[in-house]
Amino acid sequence: MGGNPLPLSVPGLREVVVISAQAQDGPSQASISAYYTGLRPFWHPVLPISELTDRHPKAVTLLGERLVIARLNGETVALDDVCRHFQASLSLGEVVEREGKECLMCPYHGWTYDKDGRCVHIPQLADGREIPRDAQVPRYLTREKYGLIWVCLHNEPLFDIPEFPELGDPKFHAGPLRVYDPWEASAPRMIMGALDDTHFPWVHPGLLGNRDQTDAPLHSVERVGRYLVSRYSIQQPKNVSTSDSLNVKGSFDNPVISYTNYVGMPGVIRLMKDGEGGTCYVVWLATCPHTYKSTTSFWRVVRNYDLDAEHDGRYEEFEDQVRAQDKVIVESQRPWLLPPFWSKIELPIRPADLPLIEYQKWLEELGIALDV
Ligand code: FES
Ligand code: FE
Repeated sequence: MGGNPLPLSVPGLREVVVISAQAQDGPSQASISAYYTGLRPFWHPVLPISELTDRHPKAVTLLGERLVIARLNGETVALDDVCRHFQASLSLGEVVEREGKECLMCPYHGWTYDKDGRCVHIPQLADGREIPRDAQVPRYLTREKYGLIWVCLHNEPLFDIPEFPELGDPKFHAGPLRVYDPWEASAPRMIMGALDDTHFPWVHPGLLGNRDQTDAPLHSVERVGRYLVSRYSIQQPKNVSTSDSLNVKGSFDNPVISYTNYVGMPGVIRLMKDGEGGTCYVVWLATCPHTYKSTTSFWRVVRNYDLDAEHDGRYEEFEDQVRAQDKVIVESQRPWLLPPFWSKIELPIRPADLPLIEYQKWLEELGIALDV
């Protein structure tokens, strides 16, 4: 939002706080910049590895910046998607070979860049002239993990990519990597939507909660290394995420489910659901913050029961239903960027909202929740 909230003092009434009109329009440029700057020193997933084919670069937007992702000489490379000549998108270009090395060629006039972003060929260069020293584009750090290409826009990432120990564990079956089209929301709002449990009876009745049980569970929340870990137990309706209906393992009505949620700060969450019959169902969600109000999520569900891949569809259907219910709510939240605690624009309550409070506290320490 562009300005501070207006405190209204009405004689005889308690002071109230209203959201300024700008909160509906969007954050100020200063708030957006602070958000992008705060998120730069972290790894963000941008693309499934399978979507990057050898000869075809891909365009992605991360924290408001256009990047081109390409595979050059077997290396995954992320460069600014802006040619230094006349600013055309390199992602429209192609991978070509130059002096035995794969390079990226701009589609407009053929300027060609190596894997480090240095221009190594200008077709129009007059004889005897040298390639200008400034003819280079920034290159960023990349990694490949969990089927995804990750990018960090800072030379020194603050935290490593969060762990996902169940992926690859033979006791678990991993469903396919799934990509949800961008939601009109910021990444912290999306993570908070997954971390929040008191909405279950209201947003997911019959799936993750029931309206006759709306008490908040007792949460324990702590920081462990680069993770915020939140634990609680709740009764949930019997469904594919709480019981193994095929093998009767944990097939109780409204079983007690123990949640352990690991937020890999700041944009990844792993929700582990332990059921009564020894079932363990894990939802993994990693966010790609394209902009302050556009976020793609990558999903994976793993389970230690019903290991048959042919049954993945029933779990995907369940998650799709839950996510569709969440989407409407999360996209409705304003302002897009989290308002700081001091603004009192939002009123989280203790102890019910403890996991969200602790998450936002950490974001504020990292300089990410700063819509002021
Ligand atoms: Fe890229 Fe001219 S704009 S070569
Ligand atoms: Fe939800």
